[in-house]
Amino acid sequence: MDNLESQTYEVFEKDPIKYSQYQQAIYRCLLDRVPEEEKDTNVQVVMVLGAGRGPLVNATLRASRQASRRVKIYAVEKNPNAVVTLESWQYEEWGSQVTVVSSDMREWSAPEQADLLVSELLGSFADNELSPECLDGAQHCLRAGGVSIPSTYTSFLAPISSSKLYNEVRACREKDRHPEAQFEMPYVVRLHNFHQLAPPQPCFTFHHPHPDPARDKSQYRQLEFAVEVNTVLHGFAGYFETTLYGDVTLSEGGGALGVSHAIPFNALLKSR
Ligand SMILES: C[S@@+](CC[C@H](N)C(=O)[O-])C[C@H]1O[C@@H](n2cnc3c(N)ncnc32)[C@H](O)[C@@H]1O
Repeated sequence: MDNLESQTYEVFEKDPIKYSQYQQAIYRCLLDRVPEEEKDTNVQVVMVLGAGRGPLVNATLRASRQASRRVKIYAVEKNPNAVVTLESWQYEEWGSQVTVVSSDMREWSAPEQADLLVSELLGSFADNELSPECLDGAQHCLRAGGVSIPSTYTSFLAPISSSKLYNEVRACREKDRHPEAQFEMPYVVRLHNFHQLAPPQPCFTFHHPHPDPARDKSQYRQLEFAVEVNTVLHGFAGYFETTLYGDVTLSEGGGALGVSHAIPFNALLKSR
């Protein structure tokens, strides 16, 4: 699978709301799991899965200081370029409290089980970066009664009209591909110049940890939208909402992850 580039991590890291919400979620979770009288003896094992260049490791360390609770962190990352940055953070800043693991989370044999799994693999449609598959695949690292942050997420779809996006997708036609292949895929874009034809509706929901992580994750959902205006449907905008922990949430509407959206253009367009 492709690895992200350094500039892409830079874009993620410019989202202060996301990391402060994660810090808040980890803080609340640590307070719930470790009573005051155990705060000096109980060390919570936190695995940051898909650690990138380390912002969620830093959020975990801040949450641990804020809660006055002890943590031991594993930063697991499959992208060798990001691992280099993690190793340099570990050497220069974090020290022995953090272990950097260069591995796919689904294949890693952890030396111990985690109290807390922390990840951000939600993309722009909740499951388009394989969060359900990756977290289910890594669930063997979590001890019974352990917590996943995020605990649940739901994708949303809304029909849209956007001549600009339609024309840009049309221009992606390539010589050796089916003439309409470019319409049969999702795109991650900044949504400007579009008209939403009906309110978004929930599509797929996932919970972690799951009682049966090996289940078949295929899902099918049929949605009906009432469109009041006479217009052209060009595709669907994708959004998501997630509950990180307790009542700590992130949503596109809150602006936390709202810079990009997946737009699956599809055959509906051709039948109009
Ligand atoms: C959306 S980025 C988030 C990175 C970082 N946590 C942040 O907030 O900036 C997801 C990260 O998960 C990593 N990742 C995706 N699938 C993985 C897997 N199966 N095992 C380990 N890392 C994975 C990617 O390489 C990427 O660094």
